[in-house]
Amino acid sequence: MRVFVTGASGWIGSHVVAELLANGHQVLGLARSEASGETIAAAGAEVRRGEVTDLDVLRDAAAECDGVIHLAFRHDVAFAGDFETAVACDRAAIETFGEALSGTNKPFAIASGLAGIRTGQLATEDDRPEPTPGPGGRVTNERIALALADRGVRSMSVRFAPTVHGTGDHGFIALIVAADREHGTAGYVGDGENRWPAVHVSDAARLVRLGIEGAPAGSVLHAAAEEGIAFGEIAEAIGRQFELPTTSLSAEEAGAQFGFLARFVAMDIPASSEHTRELLGWAPTALGLIPDIEAGAYDLAAVA
Ligand SMILES: NC(=O)c1ccc[n+]([C@@H]2O[C@H](COP(=O)([O-])OP(=O)(O)OC[C@H]3O[C@@H](n4cnc5c(N)ncnc54)[C@H](OP(=O)(O)O)[C@@H]3O)[C@@H](O)[C@H]2O)c1
Repeated sequence: MRVFVTGASGWIGSHVVAELLANGHQVLGLARSEASGETIAAAGAEVRRGEVTDLDVLRDAAAECDGVIHLAFRHDVAFAGDFETAVACDRAAIETFGEALSGTNKPFAIASGLAGIRTGQLATEDDRPEPTPGPGGRVTNERIALALADRGVRSMSVRFAPTVHGTGDHGFIALIVAADREHGTAGYVGDGENRWPAVHVSDAARLVRLGIEGAPAGSVLHAAAEEGIAFGEIAEAIGRQFELPTTSLSAEEAGAQFGFLARFVAMDIPASSEHTRELLGWAPTALGLIPDIEAGAYDLAAVA
């Protein structure tokens, strides 16, 4: 297949591009800058210059290709506090791809997240949460994508664990390590029993490739190799690796240490991937989160 990938220069996207190319597919990657284009070209993919808000660029690229993987997200805008704008741009892109792919039965995968799907209980692929303000608006985007199954699109949502970890990750765990080092303590909230699912980036990329190759229309895929690791254990691993004491924080103290991330650090969001494994024969093989931290995956990121 020739696959159009948005976010091809990003953390997950760069691994997805490598995974697709290694398995005989061709990739056309969206690049919003010269530097991102160079990254995509160096990986061996074709480059299409444009912003994720250039809807004509998205429409034309989707029409040219055999499938679309939409991973671009305006994290710069979202993490500056304007999740609404980032989510609205994501929705416009998904609707544009939907129009372009309608009636073709081509595969179309979007990125979503496992945070907030079913707080306090094991989330499954059957869960269909209600949208909430801010990041919770992505639930609506997922619904729009899944509904394309009724319009002749082999659409699917890949719900990534809040940590897609590995060497080079600049996401949540890297930010948490940086905040812990700045404050001189590896923090968790309350008793630290709240759980996070996790997946290594190589396993996540393989799942995306398997989904594009074979997931039925309307599939929800859970990119979670580990169902739920107590956040206190994550903090202890960070503490051991960076020689920091481990501390229970109040919600207020967590806010001071982690900023916008504090709400995620406190979340109890275990998630199953049982249906995903059965559906696609996906079997994660890479390091778990704790061994990955202990192997030094975050050492350089924490210093930067
Ligand atoms: N990583 C995780 O742990 C995790 C967890 C749950 C969900 N997700 C979701 O998975 C998807 C991929 O995440 P990621 O970790 O790979 O993110 P990332 O490393 O921040 O990559 C984001 C990608 O989007 C591109 N992008 C951002 N703004 C753009 C714009 N205006 N126009 C065109 N491209 C733009 C970036 O391009 P540049 O390279 O030019 O910046 C980059 O390729 C996102 O939807 C994310 O929210 C990730």
